[in-house]
Parts: sequence; C-alpha cells; structure tokens
Amino acid sequence: MTRRSVVRGTGHYLPERIVANAFFEQSTDTSDEWIRTRTGIERRHFAAEGQTTSDLGLRAAQAALERAGLTADDIDAVIVATSTPDLTFPSVATMIQSGLGMKRGFAYDIQAVCAGFVYALANADAMLRAGLADRLLVIGAETFSRILDFTDRATCVLFGDGAGAVILEAQTGTGDNSDRGILSVDLNSNGDYRDLLYVDGGVATTGTSGHLRMQGNSVFRHAVEKLAATAHHALDLAGLTSDQVDWLVPHQANMRIIEATAKRMGLPMDKVVLTVADHGNTSAASIPLAMSVADAQGRFKPGDILVAEAIGGGLAWGSVVLRW
Ligand code: ACO
Repeated sequence: MTRRSVVRGTGHYLPERIVANAFFEQSTDTSDEWIRTRTGIERRHFAAEGQTTSDLGLRAAQAALERAGLTADDIDAVIVATSTPDLTFPSVATMIQSGLGMKRGFAYDIQAVCAGFVYALANADAMLRAGLADRLLVIGAETFSRILDFTDRATCVLFGDGAGAVILEAQTGTGDNSDRGILSVDLNSNGDYRDLLYVDGGVATTGTSGHLRMQGNSVFRHAVEKLAATAHHALDLAGLTSDQVDWLVPHQANMRIIEATAKRMGLPMDKVVLTVADHGNTSAASIPLAMSVADAQGRFKPGDILVAEAIGGGLAWGSVVLRW
C-alpha cells in the first residue's frame, strides 16, 4: 500500500483589470505585433492598487474548496509558491490560512520563482506521503506587475498577475503507475545561472524590492533544452513514455518555448494546455492557473496522465507527472 497525493479540486482567480499589448506601446518602443509573434501573449491581468498576492491566492483557494465541495476545516496545511509576497514576512500562506478562517494546521511559502509551483507540488507530495498532512492546499500566487520595470520592453511585456490553487488529498494506491495522483517528481537547480534572471533588490542588499532583470534569449535556450529533459526524466521515473501523456501543462512563459518543448517530447499541440495568450507569464501561478482553467472546461478525464513542467530564476526547473 502506498500513500498517493491525488488532485481533489482546482480553482483560480484573475484580477479584473485586463491589460492588452497596446498598453506597452505608450511607455516603450514595442508593438502588439512584436509581442504576439515573439511570445504568443495577447493580454494579461494586473492586480488593482492595494490588491495583494494573498488576496489573489485566497480567492483561488476559496474557488478550489468550492469546486471540491470542501471547507477550510477539511484542510491540514497551506503551501504557497510565490516570489512576490505581500510582506517580507509573515508568509503569504499564513495570510491565506487566516483569510480562510483556518484555526489549525500549518502554512508556509516556497520560493523557486517560475518553477515554484512544481517545487510546491513536490513538497506537498512529500508531506502527504510522510503522513504530516492528509489534505493540502497548494497555491501559486503572484503580483509580478509590482516588480516590473515599465521602461524595459524586453521584460515588462511578458508578465501578469494571478493565482491558482490545487487541493491534494492522500489516498491509498498500489504503488505502481496505474495509481491516481502524483507518480513522480524531478527537481533541479543551478545557482551559477543566477545572473540570467533575477530581481535587482532585496532585504539584505538594497533594502528595496527591486525590479526584474532577464537575459531573455539565454533563458530561452536553457528553457528549450531543460524542460523537455526534465519531463522525460520524470516520465522515466514513473515508468511511462511520452506517447502515454494525455496532457502537458507547461509553465506559460512563451508560446515558442512551449511549442519547442512539445515538439521535443513528440506531443501534438492539442495535448498542451495553453493560457499564455490570455494570462502572460504569471510565474508560480501559471501552472495551477492553466490546470484550473482546463479542469473547469472538463478537459481532464479520470485516469489521464498529466505532465507539469517549469523553469525560472535560479535557474530552477523541474516537472511532476500525475494521474488525474
Ligand atoms: N518589443 C520590441 N522589440 C523587443 C522587445 C519588445 N517588447 N523586447 C526585446 N526586443 C528586441 C530586442 O531589443 C532585440 O533587438 P536588437 O536585435 O535590436 O538588439 C530583439 O528584439 C531580439 O531580442 P531577443 O531577446 O533576442 O528576442 P527573443 O526572440 O529571444 O525574445 C523573449 C525575447 C520573449 C524575452 C524570449 O527570449 C523569452 O521568452 N525568453 C525566456 C523567458 C522565460 O521563459 N523566462 C523564464 C521564466 S520567467 C521567471 O522565472 C521569472
């Protein structure tokens, strides 16, 4: 008998304000055409003034609980992946715990930038398997609009705000890959690449939150190579092959990266969940947002094999294979 982390429900929340590509033509030398063709992004959501990452994460968590027919009393722990917390501390997760009215359990944040949700899923799976919790809320929530330099056309057009939540529940499986739930995880990082993608401020350096800086084309090359490799490795660990994959749920950074990864995996694009056009890159929120949107559309069927993969600042990258 094996404890498996099975998806019990998903939910998401996007801020009301939708920002079209044309918005950036006012402040930088860019165009809707460039952004669409180079990234696949058409629009993104930006949080309202005063609206924080925990506000977005709370709304996503409430949506997931409602869809799963559960209440906050049914949840043992909250894990939030974010790089844009409301405050340096306490964690966004404890703020969401309080917002949900949870009086027990535990909550904490994980920071692995755009790979954050994959890391959080892996961490939640370890918690459930170790018996430290039976039902967990795993949330990706971000307000990247707050760390963008709106004069830097190479970065400001790429990102958006939002939150997604997944409820994982411990269920008993047989231990082979016919089980529902998380079947394998592959995590990687290499801090030697930290200058490729970083924020130029922080508590112990400038005392400010800083702005995002990225060498986009270097990150692009790493992404194309590393995402397919991590997905293949996780599939190997699960004893599965690419042709058994029903859905790729990729980090939504750039349509060209997603297409290149799908091609390397031998997957047709109709097996890829795409939200990048409408959401832009929402960093740690992008995978749970995409998962929740596709779930709400009824696209995943029980028994389907999903692969989620992401890469971001660090560099940190990884993937999770799960059976729906
Ligand atoms: N509008 C118009 N021109 C632009 C823009 C823009 N918004 N941005 C860059 N350009 C220009 C550049 O200045 C450059 O001009 P030059 O040739 O005169 O120097 C030209 O376009 C080509 O620039 P590249 O950077 O080579 O363009 P590329 O095709 O690589 O696309 C992009 C840039 C979209 C950033 C791409 O490299 C990318 O998606 N990179 C990866 C992003 C990513 O996946 N990040 C990881 C996750 S993010 C996280 O962890 C927070």
